[in-house]
Amino acid sequence: MVTPLSWNKTSTGLSRSTSTVPPAPLPCPQGCNGEPLIRLRGVTKRYRTAAGDFTALSGIDLDVYPGEFVGIFGKSGAGKTTLINMLTGVDHLSAGEVWVNSTSIQNQDENQLVLWRGRNLGIIYQSFYLMPTLSLLHNVMLPMDVCGLYRRGVSEQRAMDLLRLVELEEHAFKLPSAISGGQQQRVAIARALANDPPIIVADEPTGRLDSVTAETIFQIFIQLVAQGKTIIMVTHDRNLAHRVSRTLYMTDGEMADSSSNA
Ligand SMILES: Nc1ncnc2c1ncn2[C@@H]1O[C@H](COP(=O)(O)OP(=O)(O)OP(=O)(O)O)[C@@H](O)[C@H]1O
Ligand SMILES: [Mg+2]
Repeated sequence: MVTPLSWNKTSTGLSRSTSTVPPAPLPCPQGCNGEPLIRLRGVTKRYRTAAGDFTALSGIDLDVYPGEFVGIFGKSGAGKTTLINMLTGVDHLSAGEVWVNSTSIQNQDENQLVLWRGRNLGIIYQSFYLMPTLSLLHNVMLPMDVCGLYRRGVSEQRAMDLLRLVELEEHAFKLPSAISGGQQQRVAIARALANDPPIIVADEPTGRLDSVTAETIFQIFIQLVAQGKTIIMVTHDRNLAHRVSRTLYMTDGEMADSSSNA
């Protein structure tokens, strides 16, 4: 049996971990139920720069429970995107652990991570990252093609249904360049929902949108939480703080404060 690798740093580099079960929950915030869905323990990220190592995250501990709508706030450079990249496995930890259900992200290779991410996470970036040469329909089908959870005919119908959900069905065969920024963001949401993931992670999904379009996007998120999804959203919009179920404030790579609206 292969012993899983962890990213716990020692003076010699990566060490092996015997940990095959998720860590015990942290003290429970107000209103949480059952077991955490996401557990971060000692999550640390150091970037190597020309000026030396820079610590962007220092030992973050966090539990997120099923059905939570978590808003992450903090100044530019606080480490919000870095944290998102750690919990989605898009970038490697320097130290610590990330568990989603009973899966430890640090113990998976890149191929396993791609499939795991595709099935469990819907990721929405501020810059949309739509494929410019694919129609909106094919952009939404892409995660389904990668993970193979749906047959071709089914995935096409599903993509169309998702485009209808975000009110873009009539634009399905256009390229991303032929629609507005707000519409592109809605396509990115449809794509994030393609494999019906339990968790949606969004990094400033409304940052580039006008307030009316941003509210439309936020309403879609509220509906998704009502349907049982768990959402983690980075935002600069302080007005949203009282509208999510929990707020986390980051400063200089640390969790400075948190409060629950439950
Ligand atoms: N690849 C990298 N190499 C070196 N430093 C980096 C790298 N990525 C991020 N950083 C640094 O890490 C810190 C945290 O960056 P991060 O992008 O997580 O901030 P943020 O809170 O998302 O900011 P913003 O609100 O502007 O998006 C910043 O000081 C940033 O300059
Ligand atoms: Mg960022």
